[in-house]
Amino acid sequence: MLKEKLEEVRERALAAIRDASNSQILYEVKVQFFGKQGQFSALMKEMGKLLPEERPVFGKLVNEVKGALEKSYQERETALKSAELDAKLAEESLDLTLPGPEAPALGAQHPISMVIDEIVAILARLGYAVRTGPLIEQDRYNFEALNIPKDHPARDMQDTFYVDERHVLRTHTSPIQAHVLETEKPPLRIIGVGPVFRCDSDVSHSPNFHQIEGMYVDAKVSMADLKGTISHFVKEFFGKELKTRFRPSFFPFTEPSAEVDCQCPLCSGRGCAMCKQSGWVEIGGSGLINPNVLRHAGVDYPRWQGFAFGFGVERMGIIKYGIEHIGLYNQNDVRFLRQFST
Ligand code: DAH
Repeated sequence: MLKEKLEEVRERALAAIRDASNSQILYEVKVQFFGKQGQFSALMKEMGKLLPEERPVFGKLVNEVKGALEKSYQERETALKSAELDAKLAEESLDLTLPGPEAPALGAQHPISMVIDEIVAILARLGYAVRTGPLIEQDRYNFEALNIPKDHPARDMQDTFYVDERHVLRTHTSPIQAHVLETEKPPLRIIGVGPVFRCDSDVSHSPNFHQIEGMYVDAKVSMADLKGTISHFVKEFFGKELKTRFRPSFFPFTEPSAEVDCQCPLCSGRGCAMCKQSGWVEIGGSGLINPNVLRHAGVDYPRWQGFAFGFGVERMGIIKYGIEHIGLYNQNDVRFLRQFST
């Protein structure tokens, strides 16, 4: 009786395993037959009804049936799982030839930083090292240390933003020279660089702009050294043979002083709108450091002498790249900025 039942369960289980069309259904078959409430377990409970001598024979049979079912279950499970994996892989296949998502737009160096880096690189090759100073500067460094006394008319050369009685927004990078002369020992070759501020605004002037200046202090320094350095710099910066000329000028912190012009890089000196048909453009001021400046800082003059020069960074870019309006630098118009990205 029990034996027939067992055989019947085996047949049904084998059929159910064979017919299971996916691994989920197959799992349900397992629960249905072998789970705690399953048909196989129910059959086991009936074993108690057998005579003691019948039990070992029946037990052996049960084990055989169980083994056979387990084997066919495992075979079916392996087959189903592998078919399912194949189907999944086929469905999820990657097309490696598809283009990726659009790359995020890369930023680029701002033209002002570019010009500063170019100038610094050229002067660094001549042995100059970069120095910076405070943007809110003490009156005495911005003016007095540079031979511009209080209430002196030379102060009118620079329209100054006063912060309080003793502080100004620095009007030029020259106070960096004064700091360095006080704190470092000659011989010196330094570049002062950074933002400066003036109460001034039109097509070629902005209330905040950048300057870069050089200072050279050594045992014997002449205008010839200054001219040689600036001529070399101009050729390197504009990347072509351009003549440099000095026009006599006045700065309180240099004596003699000269305005530096170079042949217009845009027309190579032939005359164009940039140079107002003159063939020359002004790039900055320069001169031999006034002995008053050196002595004020405690430098032993004439044992140590020097030259200095200062350029407007925006102006250097305007001349080199033919930029029409100084305001373009600060408008963050990507059409303008993109032209400088390499
Ligand atoms: N500081 C001057 C200005 O802002 C520029 C200048 C002129 C700097 C002559 C110098 C120099 O170092 O020697 O107008």
